[in-house]
Amino acid sequence: MASDARDGSIAVALENVGRTYQLAKPVHAVEDVSLTLGEGSFTAVMGPSGSGKSTLMNLIGCLDTPTEGRIEIGGRSVETLSDAQRARLRGTEIGFVFQTFNLMPRLTAAENVSLPMVFHDAVDQDRRERARTLLERVGLGDRLDHAPSELSGGQRQRVALARALVNDPTLVLADEPTGNLDTDTEAEIMDLLVELNDEGTTLLVVTHERTVAEYADHVVHLLDGRLEDVEHLGEARDVSVGEVIEGDGAGEIGELDGTGESS
Ligand SMILES: Nc1ncnc2c1ncn2[C@@H]1O[C@H](COP(=O)(O)OP(=O)(O)OP(=O)(O)O)[C@@H](O)[C@H]1O
Ligand SMILES: [Mg+2]
Repeated sequence: MASDARDGSIAVALENVGRTYQLAKPVHAVEDVSLTLGEGSFTAVMGPSGSGKSTLMNLIGCLDTPTEGRIEIGGRSVETLSDAQRARLRGTEIGFVFQTFNLMPRLTAAENVSLPMVFHDAVDQDRRERARTLLERVGLGDRLDHAPSELSGGQRQRVALARALVNDPTLVLADEPTGNLDTDTEAEIMDLLVELNDEGTTLLVVTHERTVAEYADHVVHLLDGRLEDVEHLGEARDVSVGEVIEGDGAGEIGELDGTGESS
């Protein structure tokens, strides 16, 4: 695995991040999370339903902003960016696979995949080619012109993954990317994610499945919006919890030891 982020480059840093929803009774969906992800790291996020996994992903993916704390993506403080800059960061560097796919129902698979290429000057032909390449990569080369309603749940999930990759993101966030898949398709999707990670892409994957989490090098456990524990499954130590440090040394400060729970 691409666990050689030994130069200490930090892909994502969260410092005391919180997200509170102001309802009649405030909901602390994410609370006081400090975490750094090294460039090229592969991290799974686990936790019970409602523990804040999707909220955390949305914050890191710049789809939502924290009510407390700071987030840095690739060294840039997200809160200092304008809406347009944030949209550009999201559009050019981050690939997001949503828990609910969010495919456009009236567009074909190929059109859905090429949709995020708005930040590219590519002509339509190039977009179509790019969409075809990615759909082939996820095993849907024969479904380019199908609408989402003409695809199975697992196929829609794969279109969503292809779409997340269309801009060659450095960071891929996937919320339950195998949630609706049979074991074989799950393994195919995970192999694809491992391949991306081997190419240097930083990955953060939410899952309920231990089998999926074990593809990762680290498992972050959330409970009631709080970071409970970080488990290191491989040798890599490029993911850590605790205070964010300026400069290098991503793997040193505030790091938990492996819990030894890896089987
Ligand atoms: N827009 C919102 N307004 C108010 N509360 C919200 C909102 N979105 C989420 N929450 C609450 O925040 C908490 C965390 O939700 P979140 O979707 O992050 O959980 P999750 O860990 O992804 O759960 P699941 O495994 O079911 O997808 C939940 O208690 C949820 O009810
Ligand atoms: Mg969720």
